[in-house]
Amino acid sequence: MAGNNKALEYINVAYAQAVTLIAMTLAPPLSLYIHIPWCVRKCPYCDFNSHRAEAEPPERDYIAALLADLETECADAGTRPIESIFIGGGTPSLFSAEAISQLLAGVRQRVTVAADAEITLEANPGTAEAGKFRGFRQAGINRLSIGIQSFNDAQLQRLGRIHGRAEALRAVELARAAGFDNLNLDLMFGLPGQTHADALADLRTAIDLQPEHLSYYQLTLEPNTVFHKYPPRLPEDEAIWAVQEAGQALLAEHGYQQYEVSAYARSTRRCRHNLNYWRFGDYLGIGAGAHGKITCMQTGDIQRTAKIRHPQHYLDAAGQPERQGTRTGVEPADLRFEFLMNALRLREGFPGSLFRDRTGLDLDTLEPELSACLTEGLLERQAGFIRCSDTGFNFLDNVLQRFLN
Ligand SMILES: C[S@@+](CC[C@H](N)C(=O)[O-])C[C@H]1O[C@@H](n2cnc3c(N)ncnc32)[C@H](O)[C@@H]1O
Ligand code: SF4
Repeated sequence: MAGNNKALEYINVAYAQAVTLIAMTLAPPLSLYIHIPWCVRKCPYCDFNSHRAEAEPPERDYIAALLADLETECADAGTRPIESIFIGGGTPSLFSAEAISQLLAGVRQRVTVAADAEITLEANPGTAEAGKFRGFRQAGINRLSIGIQSFNDAQLQRLGRIHGRAEALRAVELARAAGFDNLNLDLMFGLPGQTHADALADLRTAIDLQPEHLSYYQLTLEPNTVFHKYPPRLPEDEAIWAVQEAGQALLAEHGYQQYEVSAYARSTRRCRHNLNYWRFGDYLGIGAGAHGKITCMQTGDIQRTAKIRHPQHYLDAAGQPERQGTRTGVEPADLRFEFLMNALRLREGFPGSLFRDRTGLDLDTLEPELSACLTEGLLERQAGFIRCSDTGFNFLDNVLQRFLN
């Protein structure tokens, strides 16, 4: 009898382990996004949820609110480890190294963070200090993303930046001295009054600094920004196009592979956190205005979370999950578009199996549009991957429109 019980117990444990293993295999990888919404000053082109810090940002209260927020999301993580963390903003580098250290320690107490997790923090060169950068590194940040935008002083002034060329160069130097071996630089092109030569000089300076990753964005005039209300004179579309083409060639020449619309990396240094978004993985989002996406492992339903945007209102609602944000299901009818909107941004596209795994839908649901785009040469199939052709990549919005219900 005792032997029977033992055997039954063994079978139960083995069954539970198998169920966990299957759930782990099917569950999308999980990331964590943490939003810090304050900046020294609001840049006139920026529509991010960023607010000018009137005084010192309320670090202590905000970290308590972030951790309370994370507690309400822990159940969504299940047994999955967090594979990447991205502390974005706003200007997270406004916070002290001690605050970031407390934040990461609090995160580790509440969820399992993979031993090799990529942990990125966004930094503005105007807030770069040697001690602070060293502290970030010691706190466990292993990737720094520096918002350079341009190395041209006149340009930086027009963009309302709080730093000049010298501070931008120094920020990179400080990051290396602090031990960061994984750096991203944000650079923008198509800037007011920017000539072809100016744009390429910026890019050459960035390449000379040998970052592992470069985010190369075309400046866009976003609603609800100063630049939208008082539009500066931007270069003609054709001139911007020429900069983009020449820029891509220069980056390729120096070993930076374009793997997404605006992302370029050397060898293995693609941004794992952003890759998880583009591969339609799951992510918890905590902080003012943060968004998350979670797949329910029992039903396969996908839900999106969004937290209160205004920092003060977010702080006021701390510890009250019902006030802190919203949670909405993604309609199956919207799933294929949402998946493609992310996955087709990647130069390599996606394997058919990923579409099935992430959406629960059969590849046939992409028909008849998929076949039409393949025939017209906008999409192509190669080694099991579906991706944009060169033409499709240049007209990505048009390709996506085809899949809108
Ligand atoms: C949150 S910020 C980066 C960190 C920090 N706040 C900073 O600006 O230094 C994210 C990046 O988005 C890019 N960005 C913001 N607004 C943009 C716009 N209107 N057009 C193109 N890129 C933009 C900038 O390159 C910026 O560095
Ligand atoms: S670009 Fe960066 S520093 Fe400027 S307002 Fe936006 S988030 Fe803040």
